[in-house]
Amino acid sequence: MRYTAETRVWNADDPDAIARAAAVLRAGGLVAFPTETVYGLGAHALDAEAVARIFSAKGRPAHNPLIVHLADRAMLELVARTDGDPAAGGVADPAPGGAAEQAARLAAAFWPGPLTLVLPRQPQVPAIVTAGGPTVAVRMPAHPVARDLIRAAGLPVVAPSANRSTRPSPTTAGHVLADLRGHVDVVLDGGPTPIGLESTVVDLTRTPPVLLRPGGVTLETLREHRPDLRDGTGAEVPADAHGDQRPASPGLLSRHYAPDAEVLLFAGTSTSRVLGAMRDAARDRRAAGQRVAVLVGGEGARRFADLDVEVVVLADDLQTVARDLFATLRTLDARGIDAVIVRQFADTGLGRALADRLRRAADGRQIVVA
Ligand code: TXA
Ligand code: MG
Repeated sequence: MRYTAETRVWNADDPDAIARAAAVLRAGGLVAFPTETVYGLGAHALDAEAVARIFSAKGRPAHNPLIVHLADRAMLELVARTDGDPAAGGVADPAPGGAAEQAARLAAAFWPGPLTLVLPRQPQVPAIVTAGGPTVAVRMPAHPVARDLIRAAGLPVVAPSANRSTRPSPTTAGHVLADLRGHVDVVLDGGPTPIGLESTVVDLTRTPPVLLRPGGVTLETLREHRPDLRDGTGAEVPADAHGDQRPASPGLLSRHYAPDAEVLLFAGTSTSRVLGAMRDAARDRRAAGQRVAVLVGGEGARRFADLDVEVVVLADDLQTVARDLFATLRTLDARGIDAVIVRQFADTGLGRALADRLRRAADGRQIVVA
């Protein structure tokens, strides 16, 4: 199981597939599987050698820690401290309303589902999982294939998104194969993933708790449970309450979710002026010989109709846009598009996660139209 030459693709509906994939995980192999967010690249979370294979398969830097996926409460206790005993880690806050109670409340409200909680780690979690840090990220996925697989394996499963590092996250088994064929033992094909963006990450080891990555569960929904939840995302991430300068979420610093094409991200309050600037950019890039795609809502599409550019009409609802975004970026790359022109989303609801992914795809650059 140590040197994958051939990647096997199994239909997740096949009655034996889950049990066989679980055996591969137990033996230290790599299994890609669908979650409700994106496909994950799974390995035995307590087997440091298996986890190391994930980093080399993805080309992932060692300083970026992994999320441990769980099927039940017993697995949570195995990897994370929820008792809040400060003598055994020091970061959990056992007081009423502290980290331990918050973890229990948020888990009850959102698990299984697309919410990842950062908690103090248990000592038996290999350092490679947490990038040597004192905390561990955990979530209980809602996708039936993910839950059945973890339960059948009977162990916590680390799973980053199953893409090569810096590529858009995979939302189909085909995307996984495009990036990782020959580097993963098994791909469980469970069809396209329903949410299409990664989970929301919340750090409960800080006071107040901090949103590290916007995702499937919105900030607004989380604040119904934790009104003091601090938004640690966006352009500048301030140092935390302890004056700690370590990166809030190490994986969020590097270039991420990036297609091969250059992403030109437009922002501004006047729709007509923003569309005008997008149109000028599309025309100029085309005149310079580039292949251009414009991602635009239905009402704006006609502004580009007379240009020799590819127009991708975005759905009206953010759920559908989120579900399709990464697949769209991959399709445009496959067609050899040089420049993707798109308007930034507003920072509310799922728009916050979409805006975050586009900001990264655009390498942090944004063209603000006054
Ligand atoms: O939806 C998801 O979360 C998907 C599916 C497969 O579950 N997984 C995923 O994993 O997106 P990955 O590795 O691509 O992203 C994990 C994010 C990274 O930004 C990483 O830095 C952060 O979670 N993270 C992991 N452990 C952490 C920790 N202990 N403290 C802070 N951030 C952490
Ligand atoms: Mg990822």
